[in-house]
Amino acid sequence: MSHTSQRYEFQNKAGDYTLLAGELAGLLTGESDLIANAANTSALLFGALPDINWAGFYFLRGGELVVGPFQGQPACARIAIGKGVCGTAVQLRETIVVVDVHEFAGHIACDTASRSEIVVPLITRQHVFGVLDIDSPRRGRFDNDDKRGLERIAEIFVANTRVAEIA
Ligand code: SME
Repeated sequence: MSHTSQRYEFQNKAGDYTLLAGELAGLLTGESDLIANAANTSALLFGALPDINWAGFYFLRGGELVVGPFQGQPACARIAIGKGVCGTAVQLRETIVVVDVHEFAGHIACDTASRSEIVVPLITRQHVFGVLDIDSPRRGRFDNDDKRGLERIAEIFVANTRVAEIA
């Protein structure tokens, strides 16, 4: 299968997120493997979203988050629940938008270039099984349109992916 990603300008964020969500649904059609879908989702997001330096997944394994497929600089492998932005999003079971990572107590710096971040928890059958994490080198990169758009992207990922075990 070949997939040529569309180009997005993100002048109209809500509209472009709708197009991107449709593109993701097409990309994941016919595949439900967790690694395959996480890899393709992170590659699509990294190519489509302007001003980002990291896009990828952490999954719960044995009671802590372990890094999954991503695009960007190498990242910390493990994050405890309740730690960092990712572990806090799991604990609170809600999306966290960090305007400036220097002002988030406990932020875990994987790439020193990161200035802002959004983390969306992945939930199936009422259980959080991981997070979608996106970093930007620009302060205040993520707003409510990004929150809504990326929550929709996360829903499409979850709906198309078989989650065998939840630790
Ligand atoms: N900043 C995250 C760690 C993961 S990296 O950004 C890829 C956190 O504080 O949980």
